[in-house]
Amino acid sequence: MDDLLAELTAVVGGANVLTDPDVTGGYTTDWTRRFRGQARCVIRPADTGEVSAVMRACALAGVPVVPQGGNTGLVGGGIPIAGIPAAGIPVAGIPAAATSMAGHPAAARPGGGTGLPVLISLRRLRRLDPVDTVAAQVTAGAGVSIAELRAHAARAGLAYGVDLAARDSATVGGTIATNAGGIQTISYGHTRAQLVGVEAVLADGAVISRLGGISSDNTGYDLAQLLAGSEGTLAIITAARLRLWRPEPVALTLLAGLPDVAAAAALFAQIRALVPGVRAAEYFEAAGLALVRTHTGLPAPLPAEHPAYLQIDITGTDDAVAERLAELPVLAGAAVAVDGTARSALWAYRERHTESISAAGIPHKLDLAFPLTKLAGFRHALTQVLAEFAATGIIFGHIGAGNLHVNVLGPGPDDGAVDDAVLALAAAHGGTISAEHGIGRVKAALLHLSRAPAEIAAMRAVKSALDPAGLLNPGVLLGPAR
Ligand code: FAD
Ligand code: MLT
Ligand code: ZN
Repeated sequence: MDDLLAELTAVVGGANVLTDPDVTGGYTTDWTRRFRGQARCVIRPADTGEVSAVMRACALAGVPVVPQGGNTGLVGGGIPIAGIPAAGIPVAGIPAAATSMAGHPAAARPGGGTGLPVLISLRRLRRLDPVDTVAAQVTAGAGVSIAELRAHAARAGLAYGVDLAARDSATVGGTIATNAGGIQTISYGHTRAQLVGVEAVLADGAVISRLGGISSDNTGYDLAQLLAGSEGTLAIITAARLRLWRPEPVALTLLAGLPDVAAAAALFAQIRALVPGVRAAEYFEAAGLALVRTHTGLPAPLPAEHPAYLQIDITGTDDAVAERLAELPVLAGAAVAVDGTARSALWAYRERHTESISAAGIPHKLDLAFPLTKLAGFRHALTQVLAEFAATGIIFGHIGAGNLHVNVLGPGPDDGAVDDAVLALAAAHGGTISAEHGIGRVKAALLHLSRAPAEIAAMRAVKSALDPAGLLNPGVLLGPAR
């Protein structure tokens, strides 16, 4: 056992230092199976003190650290992969040598051993304080899942603003690190909008903590906001003070069949103008629905088939909502669900897209957003680009937020050309190359498509101030300097 491993074992106990590849494989392979890496070990600290001690030991040894929560991320950000070429895409088929950290600067440092990173899993940080129903806030550990947090808030009559299909595994820490969006962003915003404060461990082991719950606090830089979307590159989040909401219940879910994305965007805009409480507005297409039905065995949701679908959750009292919606003849053939069971049944068509696509192959997952007026132009041009790669596109997303998830099946997992082409097309249509999943490792070399050189330089300055040795999640978000 090398010195660092012995030191980490002393901190977290032997049972929480994993080195058996059969066990660590579940941590070093991502949810999509597209990204596979290698770690010196997986460390499972139980509290902030242990995270701090782990970081101090790794900093002294000059060994990189990759933080991981529920491992549901879709851009390879929580998987330890090194040696990623600037324009390359790390993939399932990557040669073993390229996934090792040999050649990483840390490898040459005394105590750095082989230079393989330590993967630090935060799932055991499971603090969950009682809900403060007056302030509508709660403190949760980084390893608490979003489903647990939502259930905890619901028992106190409140709601957590972020919800996503990965709710059973995605963690508080991971969703802050990626600034996750999900199905309610048009009502409550992304994860950053839920943050009152965070506790985190910096690269040298120092702990910063603002869990006091003061919502009026104008004392300088907002470090919680800085960590939202930092993808594990600036600090390890150990806990957060989170805002909760007093939600109006959803009155109904409707699913309408439409000719295309332009019609879906137009109908969403019409409904939003008519009804004050639109909680969620989601989009999918015939190809995705077919995969979901094959994978799940669900019946057709509507009597007729359509090229595109808009699904909307509306709050308010049933009668008032129904009266207003009656003004829209296009809704005549829509499915409407009012009670909880029927609403969940409709939501399954949208929420089971991700697993159904993965059952059909290893997808290239691209996650874009546009002003609503630009969706149709992009969608039209996308068909042409995908045809050039002989690829199948499964397109769905949070249309209320201008988001389209473009999932590409066909090209091999180690072929990044289609990714580059779709991302460049998105940028050319005024879109962003990440709406909610983040940049991770897979898009690090293409950040310039969405961020100006001065912005990237400012981000690099922040990174080197907080992590001068570059040990926190190297290769993620900022990638190699261009
Ligand atoms: P991980 O995957 O473990 O890590 C993600 C990133 O955060 C990595 O860069 C990692 O290094 C970093 N990280 C993790 N924990 C910490 C920590 N404590 N401190 C610092 N850095 C950390 N995303 C959406 O935004 N919206 C959706 O609707 C959505 N739906 C999904 C549905 C499915 C079925 C799946 C599989 C994924 C979905 N995702 C969605 C993507 C994913 O769930 C989110 O990115 C989520 O935020 C990841 O959380 P996690 O705990 O799994 O983090
Ligand atoms: C979703 O909206 O379902 C998620 O972001 C997951 C995905 O893109 O597959
Ligand atoms: Zn999404």
